Amino acid sequence: MPDVKRCSGCRLTEAAVSRRDFVSLATMSAVAVALTACGGGGTEVSTGPVPPGNGQVSVLLTDFPALSAVGATVKVRSSPPIAIARTATGLVAFSLSCTHQGSTVNIKSDFTLLCPNHGAQFTADGVWKGGERTTSLVRLPLTVNPAGTTATITLD
Ligand code: FES
Repeated sequence: MPDVKRCSGCRLTEAAVSRRDFVSLATMSAVAVALTACGGGGTEVSTGPVPPGNGQVSVLLTDFPALSAVGATVKVRSSPPIAIARTATGLVAFSLSCTHQGSTVNIKSDFTLLCPNHGAQFTADGVWKGGERTTSLVRLPLTVNPAGTTATITLD
């Protein structure tokens, strides 16, 4: 389990990134808006790109209050685009890259997912349900620390 630290000036967390990268990301975030509402009504906390070889990202679950409800989905980062959803059995993570041709799938206000490119539709936890025929979004390994406060997603 990586050591997770939180920047006091923003909502960034340090996991598998170096301290220098973390400080750089935190500085950029202080200028930019770290917490934004994405177009579909979901919530996004951008933690910036993950450098090659650092294949994990950790997030504080308190940054995603929507995840307290079963059926909710939040976008946790844009590059690569990934999301976390709360299902009846717990949290799951998945890629928001469409399995048809790779467009970033949007989270709608009702937490269903829609690809803006050819209209593939997915359930809140990334299962294909209609529109352009393709496969479900790719699941990513997710672990939660024993305190239930931090989720770590493996990207590789
Ligand atoms: S890229 Fe998503 S439906 Fe074609």
